[in-house]
Amino acid sequence: MPERNSAAVDFLLTRRSRPAKTLIAPAPDRAVIEVILQAGARTPDHGCLEPWRFIVLQGAALQRVAEQVGTRANALGKPVEQVEKACNSFANAPASIVVVSSPKVSEKVPEIEQTLSAGAVCLSVLNGALASGWGANWITGWMAFDRPLLQSAFNLQANEFVAGFVHLGTETVTPQERKRPVLDTITSWIDE
Ligand SMILES: Cc1cc2nc3c(=O)[nH]c(=O)nc-3n(C[C@H](O)[C@H](O)[C@H](O)COP(=O)(O)O)c2cc1C
Repeated sequence: MPERNSAAVDFLLTRRSRPAKTLIAPAPDRAVIEVILQAGARTPDHGCLEPWRFIVLQGAALQRVAEQVGTRANALGKPVEQVEKACNSFANAPASIVVVSSPKVSEKVPEIEQTLSAGAVCLSVLNGALASGWGANWITGWMAFDRPLLQSAFNLQANEFVAGFVHLGTETVTPQERKRPVLDTITSWIDE
């Protein structure tokens, strides 16, 4: 039998996000975030195109983004409570890793594969944070796709979008387990 890494398997079978709104300061420091980013960058990537990149938001940058989100939400005519929720998502985040999907021109690797890789990076960043003992949550919302906001707040190129904001911080609650899929309903075993 191959050797079992029980700690890793147990982590994968019990991992659970911590809701962004329950995260408080302190955020992990730069050294810890770099380890989390290393975990994210160690993601399968067909053709080694690196079709993703990171923006780490800390301190005043989070307040600046919150203000830009508010300005854009108001310009879009969003209801007051939605404006507040979107702003607070950044204003109250102890830190956030923005995983940017940044597809490259390739004859060999279709864009969908590059997008899938960016999603995998988000999970790896999330798991890297959780495994490091920090609370973390992968979220998106309209802020991940609104082109004017992506340009003004994050300086993204026209072909880029946000695959995920992974908010990081100190956890305050251990959330109850959520409903998980029943494997039999999503799995076909084919052996002949
Ligand atoms: C691409 C993507 C976007 C998400 N966006 C949001 C979001 O904007 N707001 C939210 O509350 N949850 C969002 N979620 C769900 C959260 O990650 C949620 O906390 C997750 O269901 C917890 O799962 P886990 O315990 O298995 O890690 C998103 C999930 C994914 C995969």
